[in-house]
Amino acid sequence: MKFHRYALLLLLLSSLFPPPCLCQLNDDVLGLIVFKSALLDPHQSLSSWNEDDASPCAWKFVQCNSGNARVSELHLDSLSLSGKISRSLEKLTSLKLLSLSNNNLSGPISPDLALIPTLDHLDLSRNSLSGNLPPSLAALQFLHLSHNALSGPLPDNMFDNSLSPRFLSLAGNRLEGPLPASLSKCVTLNHLNLSSNRFSGGFPRGIWSLERLRTLDLSRNVLSGEIPAGMASVHNLKELDLHGNQFSGSLPSEIGLCPHLSKIDFSYNFITGAVPESLQKLNELAYLSISNNFITGDFPQWIGGMSSLEHVDFSSNALTGSVPSSIGELKSMKFLNLVQNKLIGGIPSSLGECWSLSVLRLGGNAFNGTIPNGLFDMKLEELDVSRNEVTGFVPPPSSKLYESLEILDLSGNNLVGDIPPEMGLLSKLRYLNLSWNHLESRMPPELGYFQNLTVLDLRSNALTGSIPGDICDSGSLAILQLDDNSFVGPIPDQIGNCSSLYLLSLSHNSLSGRIPESVSLLSKLKILKLEENELSGEIPPQLGRLENLLIANISHNRLVGRLPAGGIFQTLDATSIDGNMGICSPLVKSPCVMNVPKPLVLDPYAYASQPGREARSPPRRTFLSVSAIVAISAAAFISVGVLVITLLNASARRRIAFFDNALESMCSSSTRSANMAAGKLLLFDSKSAAERLCNVDLNSVLNKAAKIGEGVFGSVYKATTDGTTVAIKRLLTSNRVQYQEEFDREVRILGKAKHPNLNPLRGYYWTPELQLLVSDYAAEGSLQARLHESASPPMTWGERFRIVVGTAKGLAHLHHSFRPPIIHYNLKPSNVLVDENVNPKISDFGLARLLTKHVVSNRFQSAMGYVAPELACQSLRVNEKCDVYGFGVMVMEVVTGRRAVEYGEDNVVILSDHVRVAVEQGNVVECVDPGMREYPEEEVLPLLKLALVCTSQIPSTRPSMAEVLQILQVINTPLPNRIHPQF
Ligand SMILES: *[C@@H]1O[C@H](CO)[C@@H](O)[C@H](O)[C@H]1NC(C)=O
Ligand SMILES: *[C@@H]1O[C@H](CO)[C@@H](O)[C@H](O)[C@H]1NC(C)=O
Repeated sequence: MKFHRYALLLLLLSSLFPPPCLCQLNDDVLGLIVFKSALLDPHQSLSSWNEDDASPCAWKFVQCNSGNARVSELHLDSLSLSGKISRSLEKLTSLKLLSLSNNNLSGPISPDLALIPTLDHLDLSRNSLSGNLPPSLAALQFLHLSHNALSGPLPDNMFDNSLSPRFLSLAGNRLEGPLPASLSKCVTLNHLNLSSNRFSGGFPRGIWSLERLRTLDLSRNVLSGEIPAGMASVHNLKELDLHGNQFSGSLPSEIGLCPHLSKIDFSYNFITGAVPESLQKLNELAYLSISNNFITGDFPQWIGGMSSLEHVDFSSNALTGSVPSSIGELKSMKFLNLVQNKLIGGIPSSLGECWSLSVLRLGGNAFNGTIPNGLFDMKLEELDVSRNEVTGFVPPPSSKLYESLEILDLSGNNLVGDIPPEMGLLSKLRYLNLSWNHLESRMPPELGYFQNLTVLDLRSNALTGSIPGDICDSGSLAILQLDDNSFVGPIPDQIGNCSSLYLLSLSHNSLSGRIPESVSLLSKLKILKLEENELSGEIPPQLGRLENLLIANISHNRLVGRLPAGGIFQTLDATSIDGNMGICSPLVKSPCVMNVPKPLVLDPYAYASQPGREARSPPRRTFLSVSAIVAISAAAFISVGVLVITLLNASARRRIAFFDNALESMCSSSTRSANMAAGKLLLFDSKSAAERLCNVDLNSVLNKAAKIGEGVFGSVYKATTDGTTVAIKRLLTSNRVQYQEEFDREVRILGKAKHPNLNPLRGYYWTPELQLLVSDYAAEGSLQARLHESASPPMTWGERFRIVVGTAKGLAHLHHSFRPPIIHYNLKPSNVLVDENVNPKISDFGLARLLTKHVVSNRFQSAMGYVAPELACQSLRVNEKCDVYGFGVMVMEVVTGRRAVEYGEDNVVILSDHVRVAVEQGNVVECVDPGMREYPEEEVLPLLKLALVCTSQIPSTRPSMAEVLQILQVINTPLPNRIHPQF
């Protein structure tokens, strides 16, 4: 009893008043306190570690051996500790397990850790430890050093003293050099992971002698050479991962002799040959990837027997043949990737029976037939059938798919028909790609339901309708590509809701209206492609705020005005802005149009003769696709050698004042058709529908008249009766229209063509021998004279442009106000009269109606230089586009002051060729009439380009005169801030 009380007192005393130096400080306490002092412990995880304690066994994360009260295990994982691992841990001489994984520890690993005799488990994984790997550590049973920054090679004899290693992982370091041969001594090894280093050299043959190996991971190194034989001896192997090396040769044929394999990954190597037959014996295999090799031969037909398969990846090889329908027996399969092989035949409908399947990728093969409906009745998350030869319709998705599908790629097939409206119910869809098919429907409005849609790609189909405004209701859309369809209408204002959008690509549609200002809200936008639409108006200046924009293309629309000041717009190159109606940029050598309130639509019918009298052609609303201006025909010009050129000119024309009210006195009112007025002059009244017959002996008038010209259709005379001067054209008698009725009808039609830019036909005279046409006489002579013969000063640019526009208006009236159109057939400067105000008036229009076709084509050869190529070739259908050709040549003459064809000593210069070369070489200024002192360069180039398109060899690529007028308006629109002295 006494003893007991004494002992108790002693114990009590010693714990209340521990004598400081009475006993030696515990080694474990010392080691751990010093270890702690080298660390940064941001969360105070080690606050229980108190240096005043006699024993560390009660400290957090510390375990002691109950026998000797020494520290045996230290678990300090995931405590955000940083700093270095102190050598003081050597003091813990009973330590068996040290685990410091997932901290931020740095510095080298002390080799002396291996001096702790009891240590057999070291886990320093997921830190930032660097330096070489101390070879001494290889003696540990469990060594986990993965995901650090260890570097250098491993000594070849590193594992010589490894007695009973079980687990070795050095994955995710920067170790290099060959794998040590001594690895083969680690016969007790279960788990070997050397992945994600820079190990090189061959596959160490000795590894196959590690019979207890269950996991072998050498992935992501630069190991090369063939995989050696001998694999059969690692018959316990469960997981084999060699992906991401440079192994070559074929897959090991003995692989089927490792019956417990559940995972095989040979992907991303250079492996050739066929899939080994022995593979089918692996009925525990769940994960099989041989993707991204050069594996050939037929797709394994026995695959249906490998019932444990869950993950199958054969992608990016060269497998041939078809997929057997037995694949439907793989009921556990969740993932099947056959992308990018050479598989053919139909997609087995039995795939619909793989009810675990959630990812199915079949893209980039040659599968044909239709998409099995069953595939749209599964719980798939991803379906990729892209880039095959699949035909038929897109099956309607079933309700199972509504809740699961996130990725759908059917692009690059031959699918037809609608986008099924049920598609809108795929509420989880993130990626939808139906591009490059032949889908025809409107875009289903339900597409706006998608809450998480990030990519919508419907390019290159035949989709119609407008872009729905709710397309961005979810706000998650990042990529929207609708290019190359037939979408119409405006870009919806709500596009501004697409706040995540970084690629907006709507090119090659028929979108119209303005670019919405709200596009400027797309602050993440990197790529904006709007080219080849019909967008008009000015580009909203707010688009300059798009700071992230890297690429923008707005070419080939009808945009005008300044480019936005900020962002990428001022640095766009010409190809991104070309082909608009008037973008203002120093890079674009085309017209600049600003502050235009409305799209330019000039009504070519404004001067229609009298409503109701002539059937008008329905208004053509098509604009010229301005690309035509650039697309200068490359067709060869008519060979110069075959030309028989007799340029007739009206050199005799002189300036004579012209008067109205001609022949008034000798005429009486008449009603038409009483008789055909043979031998009398019939005058059309310009103001009323009345006509007058005049008893004038025009034969005798003609005898006194002066012949002033000779044209394709006959001679022209100036005649004066009673002080009135008129022009009388005597038509060629041969091949004329035989009957007066026919002649009368045709001339009356021409008589109705009244327009400020047409020289009106006043009347006619008909006898079987003589046909005369009477018209006003132009005081100032013809354009031919003004350009090439006149002594008066050269015309200003403004005068020239006025002539071009006026001529275009006159022609547009002839072409578009009459049905069938009145074709001039012979437009050239000598047929364009110019009055004292420099207003042009087209004369001699439509005369071909009065002659037979034979004469027309023969006669035209004499007007070479103006004649459209199709006129020279009688088999072609001729329409009003031949006048457009003549107009084009005339424009070139007006700009250059040169003749359509000029003869030198030993060469012939064809003006349109000359201009074409100049434009192509950028020497436009050199071909401008040197007589003009001042002219705006920015108008000259587009005008000449227009002229070149008008003289395209292919009639259908020439613009209509209405389109020409629109373009002319754009080329020369008076700007508020630009001075036009000539206008
Ligand atoms: C699919 O392709 C195979 C082989 O190329 C061919 O025999 C078969 O007729 C094709 N089937 C269809 C529906 O086109
Ligand atoms: C959309 O994505 C978010 C975040 O990934 C997710 O939480 C949400 O469930 C998704 N919504 C749908 C309908 O899939």
